[in-house]
Amino acid sequence: RRICRDPANHQPLAYLRLRQAIRNVVQQHDVEPGHALPSERDLALVLKLSRVTVRKAIAGLVEEGLLTQRHGAGTFIAERIVKPMSRLTSFTEDLRERGLRPRSEFFERVIGEVTPEESMAMNLSPGSLVVRLHRLRYGQDEPLAIERSVVPASVLPDPMLVRDSLYEALEQLGCRPRRALQRLRAVSLNAQQARLLHVAVGSAGLNIERRSFLDDGRVVEFTTSWYRGDIYDFVAELHTD
Ligand code: GLP
Repeated sequence: RRICRDPANHQPLAYLRLRQAIRNVVQQHDVEPGHALPSERDLALVLKLSRVTVRKAIAGLVEEGLLTQRHGAGTFIAERIVKPMSRLTSFTEDLRERGLRPRSEFFERVIGEVTPEESMAMNLSPGSLVVRLHRLRYGQDEPLAIERSVVPASVLPDPMLVRDSLYEALEQLGCRPRRALQRLRAVSLNAQQARLLHVAVGSAGLNIERRSFLDDGRVVEFTTSWYRGDIYDFVAELHTD
């Protein structure tokens, strides 16, 4: 409390007042996600505040997830991507549905032998071949998720068939999954993940493990993803029966 108060007049410090004021404007006037904020310099000039004060207020709102900053481009009202949990959709489809352009950067796109853990998770016999994808997934050039997928080579014979979307490749092979089990966990992102996702170390993330199946029960993919917690909302519809 003492940190937040200016002892002279018992008013919150200027940056906290500004932070609250910006929050009020955004929430009460339903400012559109993606809307750009004036530059720090302009805000400081118009509001007759120091740039340090403006910068501190904005940094706090970025941390809260209300604003996002893109290098060189400025500060914007943050977008949240709401994904219904009950539909078996791909990252690419989720983004396209919202008018966002998906893209993948591959760190790994190889074929190799299944590990003991993977063979257990995917019900594959030891020595089976699997395709491994390790990708950074973007929406409108902003990194949103890190994804590691393992797919049996009996389903996907060549890793290079995945140009950008795994599900598109599977669809073309007639092996699009029909059912999936998904586990969602809250995590804080480690240094490497935070660096790739352009967020602060320790930021909230969603760890999602998906095992998808074909109609005949064969596992199609075993994917572990780390989604940015400041952007993604997962919404589930619940039924009593
Ligand atoms: C989501 C799922 C993954 C799935 C991926 C496919 O991110 N969590 O399990 O592998 O979508 O997306 P795409 O077809 O864009 O590669």
